[in-house]
Amino acid sequence: MKITAAITAVAGFVPEDVLTNEDLVKMVPTTAEWIETRTGIKERRILKGEGLGTSDMCVKAIEMLLKKRGISPLEIDMIIVGTVTPDFVFPSTSNVICDKVGATNAWGYDLSAACSGFVFGLVTGSQFIETGKYKKVIVVGADKMSSILDYTDRSTCIIFGDGAGAVLLEPNTEGYGVLDSILGVDGSGRKYLHQKAGGSVKPPTHQTIDAKEHFVYQDGQPVFKRAVVGMADVSAAIMQKNNLTSEDVNWLVPHQANKRIIDVTAERMGVPPEKVMLNIQRYGNTTAGTIPLCLWDYESQLKKGDNLIISTFGAGFTWGAIYIKWAYNGK
Ligand code: UT7
Repeated sequence: MKITAAITAVAGFVPEDVLTNEDLVKMVPTTAEWIETRTGIKERRILKGEGLGTSDMCVKAIEMLLKKRGISPLEIDMIIVGTVTPDFVFPSTSNVICDKVGATNAWGYDLSAACSGFVFGLVTGSQFIETGKYKKVIVVGADKMSSILDYTDRSTCIIFGDGAGAVLLEPNTEGYGVLDSILGVDGSGRKYLHQKAGGSVKPPTHQTIDAKEHFVYQDGQPVFKRAVVGMADVSAAIMQKNNLTSEDVNWLVPHQANKRIIDVTAERMGVPPEKVMLNIQRYGNTTAGTIPLCLWDYESQLKKGDNLIISTFGAGFTWGAIYIKWAYNGK
């Protein structure tokens, strides 16, 4: 009997503090209208409070996940965290989370794939279920983007927000769960979207701080162009590979980077807007957080047997699509 990895619970956390487009107008030369028409974003959440990091948002999401599923943290085998804003360079955010939630029987690690972090993590976590090795794997996508944003740079600070989403993976023998995936990377795209300093190539110094090299650097246009093509291509490819027509697809779950990228992807797949999960207007781009936060927001509308196409494109470049047969009724 083939074992597949089914998502059996979803949870999320976004911080209370809201940063609206109107707030940003007071900080950088922009307009609320420019931001909304160019990106689809109206507001985003910001994690405030000294000593709070990505792990704290993950802990909130995981605690909700465990409660929803009615299980103890001791049952968790593994926690994989997709993030580019780990609490520390080391140890991993997963380590910190295992301690904070009391998952003392679990192990895990962080996975660095920027906006594709959750998708890469979901595929990776699924393998541990499919082999029969583990029974309960948590995959988290989370970023505290506000910790690496320059709030004087209008081209980046308007896009991103903070948030975390988590899913629980369990074995299924009835054909539900993660059924297929296509993943890719192209490291030659790194120059368009990255953090210049703080790594081993350019360790932090006073000079790197003064030059603001610890913030997100993005050349928006080339990233946009590649993302539009990349996300639409990989989404169409996974449909074709699995003989899925647009009617077969119940939900597109796209990375929320820019509504215009999402629209092009949906159009290419022939999926109408009512089947496209969208929350960019409320949370902005939470990097690895966007996809699980969409699942969390739309969970009550999902039905057992729904065909979901998850799709992403991000820094690296990294991209991917996953075909999932949803395993439970959301209500
Ligand atoms: O999630 C990870 C992957 N990231 C992405 O997928 C992001 C992809 N890129 C984008 O979403 C878009 O490129 C942005 C939203 C970042 C920018 O939108 P755009 O339509 O590509 O704008 P642009 O960079 O081509 O800039 C157009 C104009 C420029 O002015 P000039 O040179 O035409 O006079 C910019 O200086 O818009 C200006 N601009 C702004 N104006 C008002 C840039 N940012 C702003 C702003 N407010 N916040």
